[in-house]
Amino acid sequence: MEPFVFFGGKGGVGKTTVSCAYGVKSARAGLDTLVVSTDPAHSVTDVFDQPFSDDPESVEGIDGLDAMEIDPETETQRHLDGIRNDLSEQVSAAMVNEINQQLEMAHQTPGAHESALFDRFVDVMRNADPYDRVVFDTSPTGSTLRLLGLPEFLEGWIDRLMHKREKSIDLFEKAAIGSNEPRRVMNGDPVLARLQDRKEFFEFASGALQSDAAFFLVLNPDQLSVNETRRAIAEMRERDLSVRGLVANKLTPEPDPDEDGRGARYLRDRVATENERLQEVRETLDPPLVAEITTRTAEVKGDLLDDVAAEFDVETDAEAPTFV
Ligand SMILES: Nc1ncnc2c1ncn2[C@@H]1O[C@H](COP(=O)(O)OP(=O)(O)OP(=O)(O)O)[C@@H](O)[C@H]1O
Ligand SMILES: [Mg+2]
Repeated sequence: MEPFVFFGGKGGVGKTTVSCAYGVKSARAGLDTLVVSTDPAHSVTDVFDQPFSDDPESVEGIDGLDAMEIDPETETQRHLDGIRNDLSEQVSAAMVNEINQQLEMAHQTPGAHESALFDRFVDVMRNADPYDRVVFDTSPTGSTLRLLGLPEFLEGWIDRLMHKREKSIDLFEKAAIGSNEPRRVMNGDPVLARLQDRKEFFEFASGALQSDAAFFLVLNPDQLSVNETRRAIAEMRERDLSVRGLVANKLTPEPDPDEDGRGARYLRDRVATENERLQEVRETLDPPLVAEITTRTAEVKGDLLDDVAAEFDVETDAEAPTFV
């Protein structure tokens, strides 16, 4: 099993619950495990009944388990501040104001959060050496997972930018022929250096995501959730990321066979409907169902996490990350 494990899925299906349960299972199996959440609602704090921050902290009562919560809003601000600093060093004072305004607008654009989170995820992966396993509780399908398929695309884009930059420097040097050290401009160019940094960052990201990460999608046994999962699998496949397995959560429990009250009949009918959906999942979706988790009568926290974790048919052994 890969060192980086991602859980995605539609809003509210149980990504945070499943990520935490899987984290507990990994830690109980003796792996040093980190759960990383990007849930702005601080659900990991709720699940473990303990506040978490941007830095990994150990989860009380569970040896070998750490958790951290990345706040998308703070991360976006930090991301844009970084860009602002980079640019301010390279442009005239008159441009700084203009750049600030543009960045303020960028903050509001769709994708700003995701792009900031992506950088942070990759950062966590780069610094994952103290852990055997890092579990990512991602934001709803589409946004984050879609973004994970982008590094190769971005690498290509940066290559083209670098090529353009080299060409313009080359033209500049040719125009300045006769000066003593013509190559100096190309070698010390801050823009090229920055692009090179980004290129290495994306190279690392696509390597880690392709060979050191496993993706799981959480779904509920209803038609909308199954449809969304089908789309997510297809989208990820287009980006050469394969979904390792599906986790069906919030299944209705079956009543005892001798019960025949109204409640029992309701549960039986509901179970029959859900079984049809699950059958559709088994027959029409490629990734296997690796867990079927029944709905508990209360929120899944504390001891219930171990209970839920036991319903997982996912390996917990891991090799040490190769990209550190
Ligand atoms: N098997 C279960 N039994 C009972 N309650 C559950 C179960 N799985 C999840 N829940 C509850 O459902 C709610 C949503 O779960 P969770 O927060 O894990 O979903 P999510 O996919 O992370 O949501 P979001 O998309 O908002 O981040 C929570 O209150 C959680 O306690
Ligand atoms: Mg969540």
